[in-house]
Amino acid sequence: MTCDMQKPQNMVIVIFGASGDLTHRKLIPSLYALYDQKMMPDHFLILGVGRSSYTDQAFRDRMMQGVRSFSELNHLNESELLQFQQSIAYQQLDPSKAEDFPRLKIRLDAWTEETGSPANYLYYLSLLPSAFAEIASNLAAVGLNHSTDGFRRLVVEKPFGYDLESGRKLNDDLHKAFEESQIFRIDHYLGKETVQNLLVMRFSNGIFEPLWNRNYIHHVEITSAESIGVEGRGGYYDGSGALRDMLQNHLLQVASFVAMEPPSSMDADAIRNETLKVLQSLKPLRNEDVANHVIRGQYVGAHVRGNWLPGYREEEGVPSDSRTETYVALKFFIDNWRWGGVPFYIRTGKRLPTRVTEVVIHFKPTPHTLFQRDHVCQHCNTLIIRIQPDEGILMRFGMKQPGAGFHVKPVHMDFHYTELSDQHLPSAYERLLYDAMLGDSTLYARADAVEAAWQFVAPIQHMWKTDPGQKIHGYPAGTWGPEHADGLIEDSCMGWRYPCKNLADDGDYCEL
Ligand SMILES: NC(=O)c1ccc[n+]([C@@H]2O[C@H](COP(=O)([O-])OP(=O)(O)OC[C@H]3O[C@@H](n4cnc5c(N)ncnc54)[C@H](OP(=O)(O)O)[C@@H]3O)[C@@H](O)[C@H]2O)c1
Repeated sequence: MTCDMQKPQNMVIVIFGASGDLTHRKLIPSLYALYDQKMMPDHFLILGVGRSSYTDQAFRDRMMQGVRSFSELNHLNESELLQFQQSIAYQQLDPSKAEDFPRLKIRLDAWTEETGSPANYLYYLSLLPSAFAEIASNLAAVGLNHSTDGFRRLVVEKPFGYDLESGRKLNDDLHKAFEESQIFRIDHYLGKETVQNLLVMRFSNGIFEPLWNRNYIHHVEITSAESIGVEGRGGYYDGSGALRDMLQNHLLQVASFVAMEPPSSMDADAIRNETLKVLQSLKPLRNEDVANHVIRGQYVGAHVRGNWLPGYREEEGVPSDSRTETYVALKFFIDNWRWGGVPFYIRTGKRLPTRVTEVVIHFKPTPHTLFQRDHVCQHCNTLIIRIQPDEGILMRFGMKQPGAGFHVKPVHMDFHYTELSDQHLPSAYERLLYDAMLGDSTLYARADAVEAAWQFVAPIQHMWKTDPGQKIHGYPAGTWGPEHADGLIEDSCMGWRYPCKNLADDGDYCEL
C-alpha cells in the first residue's frame, strides 16, 4: 500500500453467482491481491451466495483453488492465504426467491453485530443479467438497499442490456431499488492502468494537449484484437457478437477517454460528465453510413502455423447458419469543436493474428513533402498507446537514414509501463473492486453514458436485423479480418496499423 492509498471501511462483500467462473477466476484472486497489499478493510467478510450447495469450507477450498490457478501475484504467501480464507463464507440462496432474502439479512446483521462494524454492504452481481433487476428488488424488499448505518452499493457486471431499450429498462429497474450513486457498472477496460494513464498523459504533459485536436490529428484508430476464438462459450457469444461484447461498451469508453475535454477536477462526476459529452457528440449513423462505414465479419476455418482452426460456425454451441459477427470495424465522427472532421476508426475481432489492444493517434503529415513520400508516410508521426499486453506508449517518427541523400527512416521511442515501477501492476478487477470498496465511481460506467452508447450503435443493430442485404464477410482465422475493412481508411498511406502479419496460410475471404 503506498502512502496515498486509503484503507476501505469494514464491510461485507456479497457475491451473487459465487459458484460461477468469474468469481473464482477473477474476483477472489483480485480480492486476495488486495489483501496481500494490505488494501482490504481491517474486518471484512466475503459472502458467496447462490443456488448451489456448498459448506463454508467447500466454498473456501474452491476459491483457494481459484487463487492458486489465476492469481497474478509473483508469489503466494501460504500463511496469509490461510488467514484470508477465514474471511470467506457461503450462503445458499436462490436470487429469484424473495423469501430467501430475510435469511441473508439475518446473516449480514449478525456479522455487523459481531464485529461492531457499520452495516456496509457491497453487493456484486456476478451472474446472468436477467437476474439483476430481481436481485435489486429482493434486496430492497428486506431493506438491504438503504441504511443510515453504513453504505449499500451494487456492482453490476456487463452486459448492461443488449440494445437501447433493454439498457434503459435495466437502468430504470435498478433505479427503483438503488440510487445511481449506489450503482457501479463494471467496464473492466476502464480498470486497466493504461486507460487511466490516458488521462495523466494528456492532462499532465504540455507536449500532447496542444496537438490533441483536428488541427494536428489526421485520424484516430482503436484496435482490440484477440487471437482466441470463442473458447467453448459459443452459445453465449452467439447471442452477443463483437458489436455488443466489445464495441458498444469497452471501445466506445476508451474512445471517450481519448477524446474528452479536460475535466474540471479528478472528481468522478467531473470526469464522467466529460466522457458523456463525447458519447453524446458521436455523429449519428445514417443508413448509408452503416452500409459504407461499418464492416462486419465472421472467421472461417484456416490453417494457422500448420494447425487447422475451425470456423466460427463449426464452434460448439454456434448454429451452422449463424450471422453473429466475430469482427466489426467502424468509421465514425465526433461532432464537436475539437474533433469536427477527424475520422475515428474502431476495429475488434476474434481469431485475429495476435492479442493486442491499442489506440493509435495518427498525426497529420507535414504540409509540404520535402522527402520521398513512401518513406515518410508509413506510420511515421504516430503515437501508439498500448493498452494490452505489455502496456506502454510508443512514439514513431521519421529520422534521416545515415549516409548519402535524405532517406527518411521510421524510428520509435518506446516506453513500457512495467519500467515505471517494480511494484505489481494491479489487474483491472483489483483496481475496480478497490474503488468500489472506497465508493469511487470514476472508472465505472454511468447510466446516461451506457444509454448514449446504445443510442449510437442502435442504427447498426437495426440495419443488421432488418436489412438482409447487409453483408457479413468471412475472414480466415489468423488474419486481420475482412479485406473490405482496409478500404474504410481512405488514405492509402495511413491505413490500419498491423502490429504483426496475417498468420493463415490459406482460406478465402468470402461473403457469408
Ligand atoms: N467469466 C468471465 O470471464 C466474464 C467476463 C466479463 C463479464 N462477465 C460477466 O460476469 C457475470 C458472471 O459471469 P460467469 O462467467 O461467472 O457466469 P456463470 O459462470 O455462467 O454463472 C454464474 C452463476 O450464476 C448462477 N446462475 C446461473 N443461471 C442462473 C439463473 N437462471 N438464475 C440465477 N442464477 C443463475 C449460477 O450459480 P448457482 O447455480 O449456484 O446459483 C452460476 O454459477 C455475467 O454477467 C458475465 O456476463 C464474465
